[in-house]
This record gives sequence, C-alpha cells and structure tokens, in this order.
Amino acid sequence: MKFLQFSMLLLPILLDALLSFSMGTSYHEDFLQCLSIRSNDSTSISNVVYTRNNSSYSSVLESTIRNLRFNSTDTPKPLVIVTPSRTSHFQATIYCARKHRLQIRTRSGGHDYEGLSYVAKVPFVLVDLVNFRSVDVDAENRVAWVQAGAIVGEVYYRIAKKNRTLAFPGGVYYTIGLGSFISSRGFGLLFRKYDTGGDNVIDAQLIDVNRRILDRKSMGEDFFGIVLAWKLKLVPVPATVTVFEAVTRTLEQNATQLIFQWQNIAHQLPDEINPDLIMFNFNSTQNGSRTFQALFTSLFLGTIDELLPIMQQRFPQLRLSRQDCTEMSWIEAIIYFNQLKNQPLESLLNRTFLKPLGSQYYKSKSDYVKEPISETALNGLISRLTDEQAPSAYIIFMAYGGIIDRIPEDVTPFPHRAGNLYKIHYTVKWQEQDNVNSQRYIDWTRRIYRYMTPFVSKFPREAYVNYRDLDIGSNNVNHTSYAHARIWGRKYFKNYFDRLVQVKTEIDPKNFFRHEQSIPPFP
Ligand SMILES: Cc1cc2nc3c(=O)[nH]c(=O)nc-3n(C[C@H](O)[C@H](O)[C@H](O)COP(=O)(O)OP(=O)(O)OC[C@H]3O[C@@H](n4cnc5c(N)ncnc54)[C@H](O)[C@@H]3O)c2cc1C
Ligand SMILES: *[C@@H]1O[C@H](CO)[C@@H](O)[C@H](O)[C@H]1NC(C)=O
Ligand SMILES: *[C@@H]1O[C@H](CO)[C@@H](O)[C@H](O)[C@H]1NC(C)=O
Ligand SMILES: *[C@@H]1O[C@H](CO)[C@@H](O)[C@H](O)[C@H]1NC(C)=O
Ligand SMILES: *[C@@H]1O[C@H](CO)[C@@H](O)[C@H](O)[C@H]1NC(C)=O
Ligand SMILES: *[C@@H]1O[C@H](CO)[C@@H](O)[C@H](O)[C@H]1NC(C)=O
Ligand SMILES: *[C@@H]1O[C@H](CO)[C@@H](O)[C@H](O)[C@H]1NC(C)=O
Ligand SMILES: *[C@@H]1O[C@H](CO)[C@@H](O)[C@H](O)[C@H]1NC(C)=O
Ligand SMILES: *[C@@H]1O[C@H](CO)[C@@H](O)[C@H](O)[C@H]1NC(C)=O
Ligand SMILES: *[C@@H]1O[C@H](CO)[C@@H](O)[C@H](O)[C@H]1NC(C)=O
Ligand SMILES: *[C@@H]1O[C@H](CO)[C@@H](O)[C@H](O)[C@H]1NC(C)=O
Repeated sequence: MKFLQFSMLLLPILLDALLSFSMGTSYHEDFLQCLSIRSNDSTSISNVVYTRNNSSYSSVLESTIRNLRFNSTDTPKPLVIVTPSRTSHFQATIYCARKHRLQIRTRSGGHDYEGLSYVAKVPFVLVDLVNFRSVDVDAENRVAWVQAGAIVGEVYYRIAKKNRTLAFPGGVYYTIGLGSFISSRGFGLLFRKYDTGGDNVIDAQLIDVNRRILDRKSMGEDFFGIVLAWKLKLVPVPATVTVFEAVTRTLEQNATQLIFQWQNIAHQLPDEINPDLIMFNFNSTQNGSRTFQALFTSLFLGTIDELLPIMQQRFPQLRLSRQDCTEMSWIEAIIYFNQLKNQPLESLLNRTFLKPLGSQYYKSKSDYVKEPISETALNGLISRLTDEQAPSAYIIFMAYGGIIDRIPEDVTPFPHRAGNLYKIHYTVKWQEQDNVNSQRYIDWTRRIYRYMTPFVSKFPREAYVNYRDLDIGSNNVNHTSYAHARIWGRKYFKNYFDRLVQVKTEIDPKNFFRHEQSIPPFP
C-alpha cells in the first residue's frame, strides 16, 4: 500500500520529466528534420521555421500576442514556429507534427481572448498565417478571395480602393484576423443588416488532418482543420453613412432610465442602424474624479436627415441632435471607430499599430439578454462597474434584432437569434505595472457575471464564442472530458453543438486539431 502510494505520486513526475526531456530535444529535432525532408522545397521551408535559437523567434511570437496576460515569462511557448508561405508548408507541418506527436496551434490575427491560438500546456508547434494574407477583390462580381492571415482592415481597405459603396460585414477592429470565421462567425457594424461574417462566405480553401486541400463543396458546411482562404460575398453600402457617438449621459442625467428604455427600443430599430451602449467610468483629467457615463453610439447606413426623424420618433428620450452626428463614407467610419481619426486610410494596413485598442492586459465575458433588466437591477450593475476594484472596466450592450431574428437558430453555428434583445460584453483592462493584481481584476469579472445570473439567458446561459472565456465550463467535471465540452459547447452553439461534434468525429476522429475549447469528437 505504501509502495503503491509512493509510486502513484512519483509516476506522473517521472513521466513528466521523461516527456519534457524527449519533447524538448529529440522530438523537436526529429520534427525539424522531418520538415526539411518532407517539404518538397526544403530551402524555402527553412526560411519560415523558427526555433528558440533563431534571433527573431521572440519577435515573431510576440508580434500578435494581443492579450498581454499571455506575454509573461511563465506562459508556455511553442517549440517551433512555422509561418507558411505556401500550401505545401502547411502539409509538411501537419504531417510531421502528427508523426512526432506534437500539437498544433493555429494563429491568424492573435486576438483570441484566452490566447488559445498561441498558448498550449503541451509541447506544440505554432502555425502563424502572417505570410498567408493576400487579398484579391473582384468588385465587379462583388466577391473577394482573402487568405486567412489577412487582417480585416486590409480587406476593408482593398475593397474601398475598388469601390467605396461595397463592404464586407466583418468586425470593427482592424487588426482582427479573418482566420477563425467559420466557427465564430464574427459580427460588426453591418450585423443587423447583413448578418455575421460567416453568413457571407461563399467558398473556402481549407486543409484537413490528412493534408487534403478542400473547398466548400468537398467539405460541407462545417469544418475542422486550418482555414487557408475565404471567398467573401461583398455587400452594398450607401455612399454616405452617419456616425453618432456623442450622446453621453451621467447618472444625474437619468442614464439609468435611458439604459432601461434602450433595452426595449434598440432591437426594434431599422436594420440600417447598429446601436451600441457603452458604460464606463470617465476619469476627469481636471479634478481626478471618476464619473459613470453611458455612451449611446451607432452607425446608420444613410444620411443625418434620414436618421434624425427615425430617432426622434422611436427614441425621443435620447434627444439625438444634428450636432451629435457626422456624415462620412463607410471606410471613414471604420477609421473613426478605430480611433484613427485624421489618419490616412493606409493606417488600416498597419499590423503593428495597436494601442490604445489592441495589446493590453484584459479579461472579458459575454451574456445574452432576453427580457429587459429592471432599473433596480441596472443600478446594481452600474454600482459594480464603478467599484474601485476595476478602474478600467467597461460594459457594452450590443443590440440584436434586424436580420439576426429572421434566420432560424439551428441552421448555422451562430445560434443567438430571435428572442435576444442584446448581447453584453464585460471587459476589465489593466496596465503592465498593475499586472501583479491581475487576479483581482479577473475576480471582478467573475463577481459581476455571478451578479447578472438572474437577469440573463438561462439553460443554457448563452455566450459568444468569439469572446472566448475559459471560465464557462464547470469546476466539477474533468476539464478534458466530453461532458465538460458539452457544458461550454451548448453555451456557444446551443443545439448546433451536437452537429459540430458529429462532423468533428467524421473528419478528425483522433482530435488532432484541438485546444482547451475546441469541439471534441464523440468519446
Ligand atoms: C480588440 C478586439 C476587438 C474585437 N472586436 C470584435 C468584433 O468587432 N466582432 C467580433 O466578432 N469579434 C471581435 N473580437 C473577437 C475576435 O473576433 C476573436 O477574438 C477572433 O477569434 C479573432 O480572430 P484572430 O484571427 O485575430 O484570432 P486568433 O487568436 O488568431 O484565432 C482565434 C481562434 O481561431 C483559431 N484560428 C486562427 N486562425 C485559424 C485558421 N486559419 N484556421 C483555423 N483556425 C484558426 C485559433 O486557433 C483560435 O482558436 C475582437 C477582439 C479584440 C481583441
Ligand atoms: C512532392 O512533390 C511530388 C511531385 O510533385 C508529390 O508527388 C509529393 O506528394 C510531394 N510531397 C509533398 C510532401 O508535398
Ligand atoms: C533558424 O535557424 C536555423 C538554424 O540555425 C536556420 O536553418 C533557419 O533558416 C533559421 N530560420 C529563419 C527563419 O531564419
Ligand atoms: C540550438 O543551439 C544549441 C546551442 O548552440 C544547439 O546545441 C542546438 O542543436 C540548436 N538547436 C537547433 C534546433 O538548431
Ligand atoms: C512581451 O514580453 C517581452 C519579454 O518580456 C517584452 O520584451 C515585450 O516588450 C512584451 N511586449 C509588450 C507589447 O509589452
Ligand atoms: C460600386 O458598387 C455599387 C454597389 O454598392 C454598384 O452599384 C456600383 O455600380 C459600383 N461602382 C462601380 C464603379 O463599379
Ligand atoms: C430626468 O428625469 C426627470 C424625471 O423624469 C426629469 O424631470 C428631468 O428633467 C430629467 N433630467 C434630464 C437631465 O434629462
Ligand atoms: C470633475 O470634473 C468633471 C468634468 O471633467 C465634472 O463632470 C465633475 O462633476 C467634477 N467632479 C467634481 C467632484 O468636481
Ligand atoms: C504603424 O504604426 C506604428 C505605431 O503608430 C508606427 O510606428 C509605424 O510607423 C506604422 N507603420 C506604417 C507602415 O505606417
Ligand atoms: C484615473 O485617475 C486616477 C487619478 O489621477 C489615476 O490614479 C487612475 O490610474 C486613473 N485611471 C484610469 C483608468 O486612467
Ligand atoms: C479526463 O478525461 C480524459 C478524456 O476523457 C481522460 O483521458 C483523463 O484520464 C481524465 N482525467 C481524469 C483525472 O479523470
């Protein structure tokens, strides 16, 4: 008995040591050797392979760590980084990683909230699509072929160069990668008019675990592997759009009442309006005091003269005035919402320019709301937001409705359809010098999430997969088990989770492509 206990304790440690030894040395060298043999063009693959010996290993790795929580020295790093520049590089990497039992993490833009595209607790190879990013726009036929490593800013820019009244319904922030659209869909300023990005994909090029290059016809609607490129459907936008962002209210200016009213009104506004409500603490530079503010903002696909009568009729309490509104083109609106005002359109091509929006320390969560939250409950939310524990926190309500309501919930992996008034996005950010307190901030998000339980969707408590949150499983279940995956899977995908599991079981039954929140095959 004693011996058994002793060996049970020791065995994992020994195994760990053995594994890390072999993984750290021979596995990884075998992998490298395999790559150079396997690749038909060995000279070219060595140009895109980085080990820790390469002087640019760190800069390549750090280039798109968009959440600095995962830039610490104790974050596990890849053994090897591959930045494929041709399809055969992906094929060789998949072949050799399988052969030498290394996992793969795939990164396009690096914005995963939990860093899952570049962090793993097992020995792994990072496949970074930074060299796979061409954008080819065919304005006449209103389509674009875009490689998965392209950022949305570049896609918007290339489209606008051809025709300023064409657009793609992608995300707002210009450094987001296009790579992870099919499972996560992606929403942006055109969401209520044209649905998610994933709903505007016509075709795709993908590579599966057996290194087959597939398109939509050969793979079907759901897919597991690495996305190489998307064929996007472009949509028309008017030459003039209107932005309003100036309507802020403090508690003394009846902010709570307006937020309460917004809940009933926003989702019923015309599809051409995309209303958001941002709640935050305004830090006065003059007197250092913090004031709660609610910012009512929107993009409208039309002119000020068209917008004002709609808002005056539907939401008179907001008292939206002409001074709150600015007319511009669609592409200028992208510049505007990225806080790049007065910058040239070319800044949308800059993959490194991130602050103040991109590279930060943060933790986020999401919720869906189906019934208006009472003023009393809203006041509870506001008092938690203004809590000293989270000085740089903000909460965004994003209106649903529009086309979202008109698509059935079980036909695509985006199930958050009719019945949702809006989605909530909770975020807390902090600075480098404050990172020692990161747990305090993360705990703040968990407290506010617990507080909101009675007021948001239930069974399941829905969550948006693009706002990745590793907290939403359960502490009582084995984290690598299918039972655990079902908990977070239903929150992200509702009943469509079962369909995804079925497809995964067919095309990647051994679960080669995986991370902490990837769809598992049936056990
Ligand atoms: C500042 C900021 C603003 C955001 N704004 C929006 C928004 O407006 N709308 C919205 O919907 N979301 C938004 N998001 C969330 C964002 O869309 C998701 O984080 C999305 O997953 C980012 O894609 P990425 O390629 O940049 O991320 P990555 O971190 O590169 O990838 C995300 C996930 O997809 C996988 N993946 C990446 N590339 C591939 C590929 N080629 N093939 C297969 N799998 C791949 C990764 O392994 C990872 O699991 C925002 C995030 C941030 C940080
Ligand atoms: C290398 O090229 C040959 C001939 O073009 C082809 O048959 C083979 O499959 C290729 N190997 C890889 C790993 O792509
Ligand atoms: C990384 O280093 C190896 C060995 O020194 C070399 O063969 C390879 O070309 C380097 N990779 C890059 C991208 O410089
Ligand atoms: C990295 O460098 C060390 C020491 O210079 C060397 O022993 C090792 O073989 C190198 N590894 C690779 C993968 O090139
Ligand atoms: C990430 O960490 C590295 C190593 O500590 C550091 O040099 C780099 O500046 C960090 N990146 C950012 C954006 O803070
Ligand atoms: C630009 O796109 C619009 C659709 O928004 C189309 O009507 C128009 O003809 C296009 N203009 C050119 C010059 O192709
Ligand atoms: C707030 O609401 C009260 C009561 O409805 C009203 O009298 C007051 O004018 C409002 N204040 C503002 C700034 O709108
Ligand atoms: C601080 O200044 C802001 C405006 O910058 C003002 O709204 C607020 O009332 C001031 N607070 C105090 C305590 O003076
Ligand atoms: C990108 O943005 C950074 C930060 O503002 C700036 O230093 C750099 O010059 C820009 N690069 C280009 C090509 O504009
Ligand atoms: C707000 O201002 C206070 C006092 O100047 C400062 O300590 C704090 O860091 C600021 N918070 C933010 C989020 O800027
Ligand atoms: C958790 O589940 C996985 C997969 O089902 C299994 O391999 C592993 O042994 C389980 N771990 C524990 C501690 O039960």
